Formats: sequence, C-alpha cells, structure tokens
Amino acid sequence: MLEIEGLSKRYGETVALSDATVSFRAGTIHTILGENGSGKSTLVKILSGIVAQDEGVVRFDGARFAASNPAGFQRAGFATVFQEILIAPDRNVTDNILLGLDGLWTRGVARDSRRETAANALSRFAVTDIPLDAPAGSLPLAAQQLVVLARAVVRRPRVLILDEVTAALDFGDRQSVFRLMREMADAGSLLIFITHRMDEVKALSDRISILRGGRLVRTEEAGISSSEELLAAMAPRMAEDLSHE
Ligand SMILES: Nc1ncnc2c1ncn2[C@@H]1O[C@H](COP(=O)(O)OP(=O)(O)OP(=O)(O)O)[C@@H](O)[C@H]1O
Ligand SMILES: [Mg+2]
Repeated sequence: MLEIEGLSKRYGETVALSDATVSFRAGTIHTILGENGSGKSTLVKILSGIVAQDEGVVRFDGARFAASNPAGFQRAGFATVFQEILIAPDRNVTDNILLGLDGLWTRGVARDSRRETAANALSRFAVTDIPLDAPAGSLPLAAQQLVVLARAVVRRPRVLILDEVTAALDFGDRQSVFRLMREMADAGSLLIFITHRMDEVKALSDRISILRGGRLVRTEEAGISSSEELLAAMAPRMAEDLSHE
C-alpha cells in the first residue's frame, strides 16, 4: 500500500534519516522501533508532509506519491498523531476533534451534530468522561492526548501514523487505543506505530522495522525475533550492558 525507497534527510551535519526503504501493507500494524534520535519522528514528518526528504521516493497505491504538504497527505487519507500534543488550548474539545474538517463537511451542521460526532470519536477509545465543551487546554495531559487521537480517527484514515502516543496514557487508555488500532487494521487501514517501548511491540505488531542512527536496519514479521534480539538490533550497547548485569 505504501512504500518508501531510499528516503534520506539531513539537518545540517546531522543525518536524521539515511536511505530508508520499507514497504508497508494495508491491514497491518507496522511498528517502528528505535532509540531516541534514531530518526523515527523524521520519518513521521516526511510521511505527513511536514518536512520534505532530501532524497528518495514515497509510493502509495503503487504510484509515486507527490504530495508535498500536510493537506496533500490528508486528502490522500493519511492522518498523523505527532509526538508533541498539538491542540488549540482555548478551543473546546469538539472544535479540537473536528479541527480542519469544518470547512470540508461540517459547515452549517448544527452544534448538536458536531458534538455527537466528537463524542462518537472519543467513544471509540471507550472514553465518555471528557467534557466536550471544556477548553482543551484545561484538560489533563492524558485527556488531551485522547482528543488528539480522536481528531485523527474521526477522519477515517487509510494510513494512521502514531508517534509515541502512549507516553501520557494510563494502562486502561493504552489498552483502548491498542484495541482500536487492531480494529482499524482489521478493517484495512495501515497503522504505523512508533515506539521505543519493547512491551508495546510484542502485544501489538504485525511487522516491525528497526531504526538505528537514521538507518532502517531490519524489517520483519512480528514473532520472529525475541525482545532481546530486537533490543540488540535497536541498541547494541544497551543490550550488551544488560547481558552483563
Ligand atoms: N529540526 C531539526 N533540526 C536539527 N536536527 C534535527 C531536527 N529534527 C531532528 N533532528 C535530529 O535528527 C535526528 C533524528 O531525530 P528524530 O526526531 O527523527 O528522532 P526520534 O527517533 O524521533 O527521537 P525521539 O525518540 O527522541 O523522539 C536527531 O539527531 C535529532 O537531533
Ligand atoms: Mg521522535
């Protein structure tokens, strides 16, 4: 469904991403695992139209994908939840969930219907206790994260990219997010799940790619390598230290 080939991006002297090649399949949860600074968010930003690669191509549905800005990616069915929680703090929860969609299809739609759409989006995470009319900035961080997730889900994306979205969530909300991810993959979407947490990888992934120092060092089906092997591929020195403890 989605292929990247030879993607590279540098920031001055820093090579953030180097010659990254992967093919992603529809209907899968594809985890990208990597240490801090390994290039995960750089890949996410390229696949969201936030930054442009220096080299390489993206193919989508078998054709070269030429979108060069966030709107182009969104129109093609991409949605991203970024590592930083991006909300409009003074706008209410409903507005934050429907942000950007208004001009497309909710203009002129009654307030009740907008609230209902927002509530439905949250209920997909089993969330019913977030006040729809409260300013989003007044909510605890975990609730803000769920609002941002609902904003992505309400677009019914074909490709949903989640960059370290579970950090602010408690165990129960994490499980709800994982359940919805599986549901969306089963319905045919591609989920690209970025994490550095090994415990999440096991539970969730169909396929796993490992980024190390900007290089995609391997891609494989989940269940082939043990956690120790994945850790060794992701962070050889850390794995070495652990094995000596
Ligand atoms: N705007 C930027 N300007 C300069 N360097 C950058 C910029 N964005 C990223 N980098 C550098 O590129 C490399 C990859 O960064 P990236 O944010 O993609 O890593 P990451 O895997 O998402 O890390 P983390 O786990 O901390 O989120 C790092 O060395 C980072 O410092
Ligand atoms: Mg990152």
